Amino acid sequence: MRDLVADTRLSCKDLVLPVFVADGISEPRPVPSMPGVYQHTPQSLLELSDRVKDSGMVGVMVFGVPRPEDKDPTGSIGLSPDCILNTSLTALRERHGDDLVLMADTCVDEFTSHGHCGVLGTNSHGDTVVDNTATLQQYQQLALAQSTAGAHVVSPSGMMDGQVAAIRSALDDMNHIDTSILAYSAKYASAFYGPFRDAVGSSLEGDRATYQQDYRNRTESLREIALDVAQGADMVMVKPAMAYMDIISDAAQLADVPIAAYQVSGEYSMIAAAGEKGWIDPAAALLESVVSLKRAGAGIILTYGAVEIAQHLS
Ligand code: PBG
Repeated sequence: MRDLVADTRLSCKDLVLPVFVADGISEPRPVPSMPGVYQHTPQSLLELSDRVKDSGMVGVMVFGVPRPEDKDPTGSIGLSPDCILNTSLTALRERHGDDLVLMADTCVDEFTSHGHCGVLGTNSHGDTVVDNTATLQQYQQLALAQSTAGAHVVSPSGMMDGQVAAIRSALDDMNHIDTSILAYSAKYASAFYGPFRDAVGSSLEGDRATYQQDYRNRTESLREIALDVAQGADMVMVKPAMAYMDIISDAAQLADVPIAAYQVSGEYSMIAAAGEKGWIDPAAALLESVVSLKRAGAGIILTYGAVEIAQHLS
């Protein structure tokens, strides 16, 4: 009876698994701060992608981890067809064709020596800052490289102003007309990203407060979402998820595109770590948290627990 009358029904097809593929490793390497999560080799990523598909899910979000010596101030390795992210997208696309939606993280922070999501420049006071305009050009090339490699969806996650319009026009100019854009529109400067920075070997100096959202703000996020939809975003994201359910709910009311929510590394690891201590039932807590994101209005949910949840659902 409860199943019959339940408001919210979570499906495997709502879930997207974020995955990490690293250059220069010979076997999968566990991420210490994310129980059960690995940096993958190209081969182990392919095997994982089979599990994702077999469990009834339809998508993965791929992050590339370069060799430390390949990082530079502009993140140029990300533009190369030989970048681990791009070669992996190609291998995944060859393996699954259009049967698995390949989303690529379209940001340079994994590839820059300073770890920022953009190219640095100098402002009128002589301060070193992220140069929004220079970064847009870099994102255009990055999106083209990822789309060429095989991504169905490019996902600008750097919170630069104008990134969606810049990427859409670059894609369209080169006839990548059916590559979609998932915009990280309401991405907050958050302490919950801590474990992710382990996962990608981040070199971040300073913080991202000048380009990510201030967590005290709500209307600012709604403006960001409206701007990204107007610029051509096919889907918009709220991130992190659990502390931002009000934003997810508002976004679902406001935007007429699908809303994605990203249960980020810190949210996942809190559940996993408490589970390892025997303090909570991690599988039940994960499922409850993800169903709650759907109840709040998210149609697409990115979570590191996606495979376990999908297996449970099916
Ligand atoms: C930036 C990016 C980050 C995450 C996804 N894309 C890190 C950041 O903004 O510092 C975080 C994801 C997570 O914590 O799981 N490319």
